[in-house]
Amino acid sequence: MDAIVSVSGLVKRFGELAAVDDVSFEIARGEMFGLLGPNGAGKTTTISMISCLIEPTAGEVFVDGHAARTDALGVKRALGVVPQEIALYPALTAAENLMFWGRMYGLGGSALKEAVADALEVAGLADRAKERIENYSGGMKRRINIAAGILHKPTVLLMDEPTVGIDPQSRNHILETVRELNRSGMTVLYTSHYMEEVELLCDRIAIMDHGRIIASGTLGELRNVVGGMDVITVGVEGVSDTVLERVRTIDGVESADRADGEIRVLTASSGALLGRLIQALESDGAHVVSVTVAEPDLESVFLRLTGKSLRD
Ligand SMILES: Nc1ncnc2c1ncn2[C@@H]1O[C@H](COP(=O)(O)OP(=O)(O)OP(=O)(O)O)[C@@H](O)[C@H]1O
Ligand SMILES: [Mg+2]
Repeated sequence: MDAIVSVSGLVKRFGELAAVDDVSFEIARGEMFGLLGPNGAGKTTTISMISCLIEPTAGEVFVDGHAARTDALGVKRALGVVPQEIALYPALTAAENLMFWGRMYGLGGSALKEAVADALEVAGLADRAKERIENYSGGMKRRINIAAGILHKPTVLLMDEPTVGIDPQSRNHILETVRELNRSGMTVLYTSHYMEEVELLCDRIAIMDHGRIIASGTLGELRNVVGGMDVITVGVEGVSDTVLERVRTIDGVESADRADGEIRVLTASSGALLGRLIQALESDGAHVVSVTVAEPDLESVFLRLTGKSLRD
Protein backbone atom coordinates (compact mmCIF):
# COMPACT_ATOMS: atom_id res chain seq x y z
CA MET A 1 0.00 0.00 0.00
CA ASP A 2 1.15 3.54 -0.77
CA ALA A 3 0.43 4.66 2.79
CA ILE A 4 0.14 8.40 3.25
CA VAL A 5 -0.71 8.06 6.94
CA SER A 6 0.90 5.35 8.99
CA VAL A 7 0.27 4.85 12.69
CA SER A 8 2.04 2.07 14.55
CA GLY A 9 1.90 0.94 18.15
CA LEU A 10 0.35 4.24 19.21
CA VAL A 11 -0.28 4.59 22.95
CA LYS A 12 -1.51 7.51 25.04
CA ARG A 13 -1.82 7.22 28.78
CA PHE A 14 -3.53 9.73 31.05
CA GLY A 15 -2.42 8.45 34.45
CA GLU A 16 -3.89 4.97 34.83
CA LEU A 17 -6.06 5.23 31.73
CA ALA A 18 -4.77 4.05 28.36
CA ALA A 19 -6.96 6.33 26.21
CA VAL A 20 -5.20 4.91 23.13
CA ASP A 21 -3.80 1.46 23.64
CA ASP A 22 -1.51 0.09 20.93
CA VAL A 23 -3.25 1.36 17.83
CA SER A 24 -1.89 0.68 14.34
CA PHE A 25 -3.36 1.42 10.93
CA GLU A 26 -2.41 2.73 7.51
CA ILE A 27 -4.33 4.99 5.19
CA ALA A 28 -3.65 4.76 1.47
CA ARG A 29 -3.18 7.87 -0.63
CA GLY A 30 -6.56 9.12 -1.81
CA GLU A 31 -8.50 6.89 0.53
CA MET A 32 -11.45 7.82 2.73
CA PHE A 33 -10.73 6.05 5.98
CA GLY A 34 -13.31 5.81 8.77
CA LEU A 35 -12.55 5.62 12.45
CA LEU A 36 -15.73 4.50 14.15
CA GLY A 37 -16.22 4.24 17.88
CA PRO A 38 -18.47 5.18 20.80
CA ASN A 39 -17.90 8.09 23.20
CA GLY A 40 -14.55 7.81 24.94
CA ALA A 41 -13.17 5.21 22.50
CA GLY A 42 -10.04 7.29 21.91
CA LYS A 43 -10.79 8.81 18.50
CA THR A 44 -9.96 12.42 19.36
CA THR A 45 -6.85 11.38 21.27
CA THR A 46 -5.67 9.45 18.19
CA ILE A 47 -6.32 12.45 15.93
CA SER A 48 -4.53 14.75 18.37
CA MET A 49 -1.42 12.56 18.21
CA ILE A 50 -1.51 12.37 14.40
CA SER A 51 -1.75 16.15 14.22
CA CYS A 52 1.05 16.62 16.79
CA LEU A 53 -1.19 18.37 19.31
CA ILE A 54 -0.28 15.88 22.01
CA GLU A 55 2.74 13.65 22.33
CA PRO A 56 2.28 9.87 22.24
CA THR A 57 3.30 7.82 25.27
CA ALA A 58 4.62 5.32 22.72
CA GLY A 59 4.40 4.57 19.03
CA GLU A 60 5.03 6.29 15.73
CA VAL A 61 3.09 8.46 13.32
CA PHE A 62 4.09 9.23 9.75
CA VAL A 63 2.21 11.61 7.47
CA ASP A 64 3.26 11.93 3.84
CA GLY A 65 6.78 10.81 4.72
CA HIS A 66 7.19 13.08 7.76
CA ALA A 67 7.68 11.56 11.23
CA ALA A 68 5.60 13.26 13.92
CA ARG A 69 8.39 12.83 16.48
CA THR A 70 11.11 14.58 14.52
CA ASP A 71 9.31 16.66 11.92
CA ALA A 72 6.08 18.02 13.43
CA LEU A 73 6.16 20.99 11.06
CA GLY A 74 6.27 18.69 8.02
CA VAL A 75 3.32 16.73 9.40
CA LYS A 76 1.32 19.88 10.15
CA ARG A 77 1.90 21.29 6.67
CA ALA A 78 0.51 18.15 5.05
CA LEU A 79 -2.54 18.09 7.32
CA GLY A 80 -5.83 19.89 7.57
CA VAL A 81 -7.69 19.39 10.81
CA VAL A 82 -11.40 19.84 11.48
CA PRO A 83 -11.61 19.66 15.28
CA GLN A 84 -14.52 18.19 17.19
CA GLU A 85 -14.93 21.42 19.16
CA ILE A 86 -15.69 24.40 16.94
CA ALA A 87 -12.66 26.65 16.76
CA LEU A 88 -14.06 29.98 15.59
CA TYR A 89 -14.29 33.51 17.01
CA PRO A 90 -18.01 34.26 17.56
CA ALA A 91 -17.65 38.05 17.26
CA LEU A 92 -15.86 37.88 13.91
CA THR A 93 -17.56 37.26 10.58
CA ALA A 94 -17.13 33.98 8.74
CA ALA A 95 -14.75 35.63 6.26
CA GLU A 96 -12.70 37.21 9.07
CA ASN A 97 -12.41 33.87 10.83
CA LEU A 98 -11.17 32.22 7.66
CA MET A 99 -8.68 35.06 7.03
CA PHE A 100 -7.36 34.45 10.55
CA TRP A 101 -6.93 30.72 10.00
CA GLY A 102 -5.44 31.28 6.55
CA ARG A 103 -2.73 33.51 8.06
CA MET A 104 -2.05 30.83 10.66
CA TYR A 105 -1.32 28.49 7.77
CA GLY A 106 1.09 31.04 6.32
CA LEU A 107 -1.14 32.35 3.53
CA GLY A 108 -1.20 36.04 2.63
CA GLY A 109 -2.12 38.58 -0.04
CA SER A 110 -4.16 37.45 -3.01
CA ALA A 111 -3.48 33.74 -2.26
CA LEU A 112 -5.20 34.21 1.09
CA LYS A 113 -8.20 36.02 -0.41
CA GLU A 114 -8.56 33.33 -3.05
CA ALA A 115 -8.28 30.54 -0.49
CA VAL A 116 -10.98 32.14 1.68
CA ALA A 117 -13.29 32.64 -1.31
CA ASP A 118 -12.77 29.01 -2.39
CA ALA A 119 -13.37 27.66 1.11
CA LEU A 120 -16.56 29.72 1.49
CA GLU A 121 -17.73 28.30 -1.82
CA VAL A 122 -17.05 24.75 -0.62
CA ALA A 123 -18.96 25.50 2.60
CA GLY A 124 -21.86 26.83 0.52
CA LEU A 125 -21.84 30.03 2.57
CA ALA A 126 -20.29 32.58 0.22
CA ASP A 127 -23.43 34.72 0.44
CA ARG A 128 -23.34 34.79 4.27
CA ALA A 129 -19.60 35.47 4.59
CA LYS A 130 -20.03 38.93 6.11
CA GLU A 131 -22.21 37.74 9.01
CA ARG A 132 -20.83 37.18 12.47
CA ILE A 133 -20.33 33.58 13.50
CA GLU A 134 -22.41 34.14 16.65
CA ASN A 135 -25.48 34.56 14.41
CA TYR A 136 -24.79 31.34 12.52
CA SER A 137 -26.74 28.12 13.14
CA GLY A 138 -24.88 25.11 14.53
CA GLY A 139 -24.74 23.51 11.10
CA MET A 140 -23.37 26.68 9.46
CA LYS A 141 -20.66 26.92 12.13
CA ARG A 142 -19.68 23.33 11.42
CA ARG A 143 -19.42 24.11 7.71
CA ILE A 144 -17.14 27.09 8.38
CA ASN A 145 -15.13 24.91 10.76
CA ILE A 146 -14.53 22.57 7.82
CA ALA A 147 -13.71 25.49 5.51
CA ALA A 148 -11.03 26.57 8.01
CA GLY A 149 -9.43 23.12 7.79
CA ILE A 150 -9.06 23.11 4.01
CA LEU A 151 -7.83 26.68 3.35
CA HIS A 152 -4.27 25.58 2.64
CA LYS A 153 -5.41 22.64 0.44
CA PRO A 154 -3.96 19.93 2.68
CA THR A 155 -2.94 16.53 1.34
CA VAL A 156 -4.66 14.77 4.24
CA LEU A 157 -7.77 15.98 6.04
CA LEU A 158 -8.55 14.79 9.57
CA MET A 159 -12.21 15.27 10.47
CA ASP A 160 -13.30 14.68 14.05
CA GLU A 161 -17.05 14.02 14.21
CA PRO A 162 -17.92 16.87 11.84
CA THR A 163 -21.69 16.25 11.88
CA VAL A 164 -22.50 16.00 15.57
CA GLY A 165 -25.61 17.85 16.68
CA ILE A 166 -26.68 19.50 13.44
CA ASP A 167 -29.76 19.60 11.23
CA PRO A 168 -30.18 17.04 8.43
CA GLN A 169 -29.70 19.62 5.68
CA SER A 170 -26.31 20.75 6.98
CA ARG A 171 -25.39 17.15 7.61
CA ASN A 172 -26.10 16.19 4.01
CA HIS A 173 -24.18 19.21 2.80
CA ILE A 174 -21.19 18.19 4.91
CA LEU A 175 -21.28 14.56 3.75
CA GLU A 176 -21.43 15.72 0.13
CA THR A 177 -18.55 18.14 0.76
CA VAL A 178 -16.39 15.42 2.26
CA ARG A 179 -17.08 13.20 -0.73
CA GLU A 180 -16.23 16.00 -3.12
CA LEU A 181 -12.95 16.77 -1.33
CA ASN A 182 -12.04 13.10 -1.45
CA ARG A 183 -12.93 12.86 -5.13
CA SER A 184 -10.64 15.80 -5.81
CA GLY A 185 -7.77 13.71 -4.41
CA MET A 186 -7.68 14.60 -0.72
CA THR A 187 -7.06 11.70 1.66
CA VAL A 188 -9.60 11.81 4.48
CA LEU A 189 -9.62 10.35 7.97
CA TYR A 190 -13.24 10.57 9.04
CA THR A 191 -14.12 10.03 12.67
CA SER A 192 -17.63 9.38 13.84
CA HIS A 193 -19.84 7.44 16.16
CA TYR A 194 -22.58 7.36 13.52
CA MET A 195 -22.11 4.04 11.79
CA GLU A 196 -24.45 5.04 8.92
CA GLU A 197 -22.11 7.88 7.92
CA VAL A 198 -19.02 5.74 8.00
CA GLU A 199 -20.81 2.99 6.10
CA LEU A 200 -21.90 5.47 3.47
CA LEU A 201 -18.63 7.34 3.02
CA CYS A 202 -15.63 5.23 3.78
CA ASP A 203 -13.48 2.86 1.69
CA ARG A 204 -12.04 1.22 4.77
CA ILE A 205 -13.08 1.38 8.38
CA ALA A 206 -11.45 0.76 11.74
CA ILE A 207 -13.73 0.17 14.70
CA MET A 208 -12.33 1.47 17.97
CA ASP A 209 -13.40 0.74 21.54
CA HIS A 210 -11.64 1.40 24.85
CA GLY A 211 -8.52 2.67 23.11
CA ARG A 212 -8.12 -0.35 20.85
CA ILE A 213 -8.95 -1.17 17.27
CA ILE A 214 -11.18 -4.20 17.54
CA ALA A 215 -11.75 -4.71 13.81
CA SER A 216 -10.78 -3.10 10.54
CA GLY A 217 -11.28 -3.61 6.83
CA THR A 218 -13.67 -2.77 4.04
CA LEU A 219 -17.37 -2.79 4.80
CA GLY A 220 -17.59 -6.22 3.16
CA GLU A 221 -14.74 -7.60 5.25
CA LEU A 222 -16.24 -6.24 8.44
CA ARG A 223 -19.62 -7.69 7.58
CA ASN A 224 -17.96 -11.13 7.40
CA VAL A 225 -17.50 -10.89 11.17
CA VAL A 226 -21.24 -11.42 11.35
CA GLY A 227 -21.49 -13.52 8.17
CA GLY A 228 -24.62 -15.64 7.94
CA MET A 229 -26.26 -13.82 10.83
CA ASP A 230 -29.35 -11.65 11.03
CA VAL A 231 -30.25 -8.80 13.32
CA ILE A 232 -33.61 -8.93 15.01
CA THR A 233 -34.69 -5.52 16.25
CA VAL A 234 -37.56 -5.58 18.70
CA GLY A 235 -39.28 -2.33 19.63
CA VAL A 236 -40.27 -2.95 23.20
CA GLU A 237 -41.62 -1.18 26.27
CA GLY A 238 -40.71 -2.02 29.83
CA VAL A 239 -37.35 -3.73 29.37
CA SER A 240 -35.26 -4.02 32.50
CA ASP A 241 -31.66 -5.21 32.77
CA THR A 242 -33.00 -8.51 34.05
CA VAL A 243 -35.07 -8.99 30.90
CA LEU A 244 -32.01 -8.25 28.77
CA GLU A 245 -29.94 -10.73 30.76
CA ARG A 246 -32.60 -13.38 30.16
CA VAL A 247 -32.69 -12.64 26.44
CA ARG A 248 -28.94 -13.22 26.30
CA THR A 249 -29.42 -16.75 27.61
CA ILE A 250 -32.02 -17.77 25.03
CA ASP A 251 -30.83 -20.52 22.72
CA GLY A 252 -29.77 -19.03 19.35
CA VAL A 253 -28.94 -15.52 20.68
CA GLU A 254 -25.34 -14.67 19.81
CA SER A 255 -25.33 -11.16 21.30
CA ALA A 256 -27.99 -8.79 22.54
CA ASP A 257 -28.17 -5.21 23.76
CA ARG A 258 -30.72 -2.44 24.04
CA ALA A 259 -30.79 1.20 23.00
CA ASP A 260 -33.49 3.78 22.26
CA GLY A 261 -36.40 1.54 23.33
CA GLU A 262 -35.20 -1.35 21.19
CA ILE A 263 -33.55 -4.66 21.81
CA ARG A 264 -31.13 -5.78 19.13
CA VAL A 265 -30.35 -9.45 18.88
CA LEU A 266 -27.74 -11.05 16.67
CA THR A 267 -28.54 -14.60 15.63
CA ALA A 268 -27.63 -17.24 13.09
CA SER A 269 -31.12 -18.73 13.28
CA SER A 270 -33.66 -15.91 13.15
CA GLY A 271 -36.52 -18.11 11.89
CA ALA A 272 -36.37 -20.44 14.85
CA LEU A 273 -35.58 -17.73 17.39
CA LEU A 274 -38.25 -15.17 16.56
CA GLY A 275 -41.16 -16.89 18.31
CA ARG A 276 -39.13 -17.84 21.37
CA LEU A 277 -37.76 -14.34 21.71
CA ILE A 278 -41.13 -12.58 21.61
CA GLN A 279 -42.62 -15.12 23.99
CA ALA A 280 -39.76 -14.68 26.45
CA LEU A 281 -40.08 -10.89 26.34
CA GLU A 282 -43.86 -10.92 26.84
CA SER A 283 -43.68 -13.45 29.67
CA ASP A 284 -41.14 -11.22 31.40
CA GLY A 285 -43.65 -8.38 31.34
CA ALA A 286 -42.19 -6.46 28.42
CA HIS A 287 -44.55 -5.17 25.73
CA VAL A 288 -43.43 -5.86 22.16
CA VAL A 289 -44.50 -3.10 19.74
CA SER A 290 -42.56 -3.98 16.59
CA VAL A 291 -40.21 -6.60 15.19
CA THR A 292 -37.88 -6.41 12.19
CA VAL A 293 -35.33 -8.85 10.85
CA ALA A 294 -32.51 -7.43 8.73
CA GLU A 295 -29.07 -8.11 7.34
CA PRO A 296 -26.29 -7.13 9.70
CA ASP A 297 -24.68 -3.69 9.52
CA LEU A 298 -21.69 -2.13 11.30
CA GLU A 299 -23.77 -1.78 14.43
CA SER A 300 -24.11 -5.57 14.49
CA VAL A 301 -20.39 -6.01 13.96
CA PHE A 302 -19.82 -3.85 17.02
CA LEU A 303 -22.46 -5.76 18.97
CA ARG A 304 -20.87 -9.06 18.01
CA LEU A 305 -17.38 -7.96 19.02
CA THR A 306 -18.17 -6.08 22.22
CA GLY A 307 -21.55 -7.41 23.34
CA LYS A 308 -22.88 -3.86 23.49
CA SER A 309 -24.68 -1.37 21.32
CA LEU A 310 -22.75 1.35 19.51
CA ARG A 311 -25.60 3.80 19.97
CA ASP A 312 -25.75 5.68 23.25
N1 LIG B 1 -6.46 15.32 28.62
C1 LIG B 1 -7.02 14.23 29.14
N2 LIG B 1 -6.80 13.89 30.42
C2 LIG B 1 -7.35 12.78 30.95
N3 LIG B 1 -8.15 11.92 30.26
C3 LIG B 1 -8.41 12.21 28.98
C4 LIG B 1 -7.87 13.37 28.35
N4 LIG B 1 -8.29 13.39 27.07
C5 LIG B 1 -9.07 12.30 26.91
N5 LIG B 1 -9.14 11.58 28.05
C6 LIG B 1 -9.87 10.32 28.25
O1 LIG B 1 -9.44 9.43 27.25
C7 LIG B 1 -10.53 8.64 26.76
C8 LIG B 1 -10.65 8.80 25.26
O2 LIG B 1 -11.09 10.12 24.99
P1 LIG B 1 -11.29 10.68 23.51
O3 LIG B 1 -11.67 12.11 23.63
O4 LIG B 1 -10.11 10.36 22.70
O5 LIG B 1 -12.51 9.78 23.01
P2 LIG B 1 -13.42 9.95 21.70
O6 LIG B 1 -13.44 8.62 21.04
O7 LIG B 1 -12.97 11.11 20.91
O8 LIG B 1 -14.85 10.21 22.33
P3 LIG B 1 -16.05 11.20 21.83
O9 LIG B 1 -16.84 10.42 20.80
O10 LIG B 1 -16.86 11.40 23.08
O11 LIG B 1 -15.46 12.45 21.31
C9 LIG B 1 -11.74 9.09 27.55
O12 LIG B 1 -11.93 8.20 28.61
C10 LIG B 1 -11.36 10.47 28.04
O13 LIG B 1 -12.01 10.78 29.23
MG1 LIG C 1 -13.83 12.83 20.35
